[in-house]
Amino acid sequence: MKLYADTADLNDLETLAAWGVLSGVTTNPTLLSKVEGEEGEIYRRVCELVDGPVSAEVVAEARGEMVSEGRRLAAIHPNIVIKLPMGAESLAATNTLAHEGIRVNMTLCFTAPQAMLSASAGAAFVSPFLGRFDDIGQNGLTTLAEIVEAFAMSDYETEVLAASIRHPIHVVEAARMGADIATIPPKVFYQMLQHPLTASGTAQFTADHEARQAKKATEVSQ
Ligand code: G3P
Repeated sequence: MKLYADTADLNDLETLAAWGVLSGVTTNPTLLSKVEGEEGEIYRRVCELVDGPVSAEVVAEARGEMVSEGRRLAAIHPNIVIKLPMGAESLAATNTLAHEGIRVNMTLCFTAPQAMLSASAGAAFVSPFLGRFDDIGQNGLTTLAEIVEAFAMSDYETEVLAASIRHPIHVVEAARMGADIATIPPKVFYQMLQHPLTASGTAQFTADHEARQAKKATEVSQ
């Protein structure tokens, strides 16, 4: 499963890109609202930091304007993918953009039927949300499993991009269910990295090495 970063924060992207773990980036209007600067420049910087698909979401609501905004965003960089919120207008816009060679990521997907419509319309990616189900006491992984299973039995070329990730277990479970991609907030990446036994083991190795060095230094001085 490929790992994407779900953020527009350039500092976090620089940190995570240096780890060598990122295959792409997703953003949305909420994430973009947290970053200072001109929209096009932000997307250009993101594309410079991470060599992979970078999802930029449109805010237009009608198919014609979605297509126009999508063309404008796609012209920023070859790696830009156009993110559309699931709906009839977005399906129609997807059909047009896909025929022009512009990749679409259909977002705010909460059911297998929505995902299947997205794939049939030609979306390159579909983003089933996990965490927003959890937020209302439901299990988003159940829907993700349905989508992955349905796609495996179909000839869709659309990649399943697990989104709205709240913690490392979402990432592991998405991989176990066969999602193609998980898009992960920086906070969760940092959680994935850490474990108290790793920290204590590293500290012990360092302490034992330093003790050995000190013992050798004492022997040399005698
Ligand atoms: O970017 C799409 C998705 O990852 C948003 O997640 O945390 O706002 O539900 P969240």
